[in-house]
Amino acid sequence: MSDRPGRTAYAPVTEMVVRDLEAILGASGVTVDEDKRMAYSADETLPRFERDYPADAVCFPETTEQVSAVMRYANLNLIPVTPRGAGTGLSGGAVPAHGGIVLSLERMNRIIEIDAVNRTLTTEPGVITSEITRAARERGLFYAGDPCSGDISFIGGNVAENAGGNKVIKYGATGQHVLGLEAVLPDGRVVEFGGKRRKDVTGYDFIHLITGSEGTLAVVTRIILNLLPLPRRVTDLLVPVPDIGSAVRLVSLVMTEGGIVPSSVEFMDRQSILNVEKYAGMKVPFSEDAGAYLIIQLDGMDRSSLWRDAERIGDICAGNGALEVFVAEDRSSRDRIWRIRRLVAEEEWTGSMPLLSKEDIVVPCGAIPDFMNELPTIARRHRATYNAYGHIADGNIHLTLFPEDAAGPEDLHDRSDRLRRDLYSRVESLGGALSGEHGVGLKRAAYTPMFLNEAGIDLIRSVKRAFDPNNILNPGKIVPHA
Ligand code: LAC
Ligand code: ZN
Repeated sequence: MSDRPGRTAYAPVTEMVVRDLEAILGASGVTVDEDKRMAYSADETLPRFERDYPADAVCFPETTEQVSAVMRYANLNLIPVTPRGAGTGLSGGAVPAHGGIVLSLERMNRIIEIDAVNRTLTTEPGVITSEITRAARERGLFYAGDPCSGDISFIGGNVAENAGGNKVIKYGATGQHVLGLEAVLPDGRVVEFGGKRRKDVTGYDFIHLITGSEGTLAVVTRIILNLLPLPRRVTDLLVPVPDIGSAVRLVSLVMTEGGIVPSSVEFMDRQSILNVEKYAGMKVPFSEDAGAYLIIQLDGMDRSSLWRDAERIGDICAGNGALEVFVAEDRSSRDRIWRIRRLVAEEEWTGSMPLLSKEDIVVPCGAIPDFMNELPTIARRHRATYNAYGHIADGNIHLTLFPEDAAGPEDLHDRSDRLRRDLYSRVESLGGALSGEHGVGLKRAAYTPMFLNEAGIDLIRSVKRAFDPNNILNPGKIVPHA
């Protein structure tokens, strides 16, 4: 039995509770098998938390009615419920911090409809995001949400986290594509907001409050997504540059002087490239001289206009210090460019090095050079090494920090905390934020007050209480315990 902080205790998941859940979901809809409970209680957050947070039971609803019945039951009986998508999150959002029930949405995995006239796709939450992209494409339409985890994450998780990814600069994060939601409130009532329409100011904007609320306000059971015309042509450019300052300047010039909004602008620092070279046994051109690399992707309807834009970017790069511009139009050259970017992230997962932290900070683009130039000093202060990459046009930097010296888990934990406080206070003073796209979850909940004042934190708690007065839905996330 776990305690509900500051209030009465949560109820335990007894054999009777399991029988009641089976009555709602059928015997195959509930498991207390230990391996399953552990597997459904972790996500991909690294470094892992100091301890495990095992669920007491895992539930697999297949319908909104079943989600509603489970929530009503849990609310009446004060049992915590943590909704879960594919478990690919990077902040512990799906980790059951107080045990209880993990509510896996994996069996709600149908694309319900593609409506070509209204350009919408209606789906259940447990569909892999790339299946949505593919289904839309087969109808000549485009789902522009593109988290880097699109091949493994669920659309429901993307909505819960307001997932960003590679195409935010042109198309926006997941929330920008959500036109409507059906969701189950913590007391089991079902609400619907929005629909197949592109304007709606009826009341508060609950769609965008629930989107990105990390599964703490409601369980999303149906999503209506906006679709766009399908861009038929894509071109990628790989641009090694001498330093991060040149990278930021180039990105700004492409959009202002060039008048071009690329579909992606990614960057990787030199250390990220060196790591990939070592990991994959490959040679990336200019890796001895380049301080950073940009990947710029253009999409559009026809080859000649893309070519014109690529040439324009090439001129801007040549006139502003870029070491080279590699242009890739065909599929295999484009894949080669993106493979480098994918390997940067993959190398970290498979690396055996102990980590101090994986960060997801975001600052105004203009502050990126200041931030990156101060990083060596901050890292030295904490005896850390690092590599950085991410979505430069969004100001979003994925920063992975390693201890320079061998250290035990206790020591790592304290050092990580000190380092993060130091880092975050600099991020905050540059006008930045704690997380750009991975979320606060369990991993960063203690640090939210470094970015929001007391009134802001109070408001988060009041909104949470309005949705979830018994604090049973995904407790322990986003803000420190009251
Ligand atoms: C990426 C993930 C880690 O950008 O957000 O690769
Ligand atoms: Zn990312």
